[in-house]
Amino acid sequence: THRVLLDVDTGVDDALALLFAVAHPEIELIGVTCVSGNTTLENVVQNTLAILDVAGAPETPVAAGARRPLIEPARSSHVHGGDGMGDLGLPSSRRPVDPRHGVDLARDLILGSDQPVTLVTVAPQTNVALLLRQYPEVAEALDRIVFMGGAAGVGNATAVAEFNVWHDPEAAAITIDSGVQTFMYGLDVFNQVGVARSDVDALLSGESAAARIAGRLLDFQADGAHIGDAGALCALVDPGALHVERHPVRVELAGASRGQTVVDRRPRVGEDAVHGLHTALPLVDVALDIDAPRVARLF
Ligand code: BDR
Ligand code: CA
Repeated sequence: THRVLLDVDTGVDDALALLFAVAHPEIELIGVTCVSGNTTLENVVQNTLAILDVAGAPETPVAAGARRPLIEPARSSHVHGGDGMGDLGLPSSRRPVDPRHGVDLARDLILGSDQPVTLVTVAPQTNVALLLRQYPEVAEALDRIVFMGGAAGVGNATAVAEFNVWHDPEAAAITIDSGVQTFMYGLDVFNQVGVARSDVDALLSGESAAARIAGRLLDFQADGAHIGDAGALCALVDPGALHVERHPVRVELAGASRGQTVVDRRPRVGEDAVHGLHTALPLVDVALDIDAPRVARLF
C-alpha cells in the first residue's frame, strides 16, 4: 500500500482524485492539505470536506494551507464553476477542519509516520514549497513527491506553462530542487486520459453516491470527460501504465515563458551555452506517455 498525503485545490478533477484515493484499497490516505488555485482557499476546504463525505472517508484530517502563491496574487481559474467544483450543490459538510496550518499538519503526519509517506500534489505547489523550506527534515521521511503539473510539450495556462506550475512557479522550482525524488505527471499524460460517454453514464447510474458524483464531475467538464488529477494517483498504483524518463528539469521563472517546465530530453547533457551546466539541474521522473484506456479503466 501507498501511504499518501494529498495536497489539493479542489477543483473538479481534484475531487475525482479524492474519490479515487479513498476508494482504492492500495492507497492509505492519511491527510489532505488545501491550497488556493482553481478557487479560493475557503472554497477548496469546503469542496474537499464535501467530497470526503460523498466518498465515505474515515476521519481523514483536512487542513487549510496557503491562501496565495509565494510571490504573485492568487488567480483562480473559472473553468471549475462558481464554487470551483462544478456547482454540484452538495450539502455542506460537518467534518471539522484541522486547526493546524496545512504545512504543520503535513509535517506532523510525515514525521509521525512509521513508514515513508508519498506526498501527492495536484495543485499549485505553495504548501509543498513552504513545508520543504520550513521543515527540511521531512525530506528524509518522504518516499517521493508526485506532482500533477508541468508539461514537456504544450501548456494550458499559457502556450508553454501548465496551470499548477504557472500559478506558483517559484514553489514548483523549490519542490523539484528539494533533494526528494519527484515524479512529474504533467499535461503530456494528463490530457490523454478521457472517459467514454458510456462509462460516464454507467457512473451516473452507479450504486454508490461516490460513483454518481464522479459521473457528474466528469459530465461537468466542457472539454470532454477526463480523469485529470486522479491520473496522478492511478500512476502510483499502476506505474506500468506509464512511460517515464528521468531528465533534468528547469522551471522558467521570468518573462513570457514563466511557469514552463523545460524538460531536457537530449540524450547527452553537458555544457549548455545558455543555461550553464545542465547536469546540475534536478533530475525528475517525467511521465511522457500513458496507456490511457488502461488508466481510464482503472479509474
Ligand atoms: C491542473 O489545473 C487545475 O485546473 C486542475 O485541477 C489540474 O490540477 C491542470 O493544469
Ligand atoms: Ca488540481
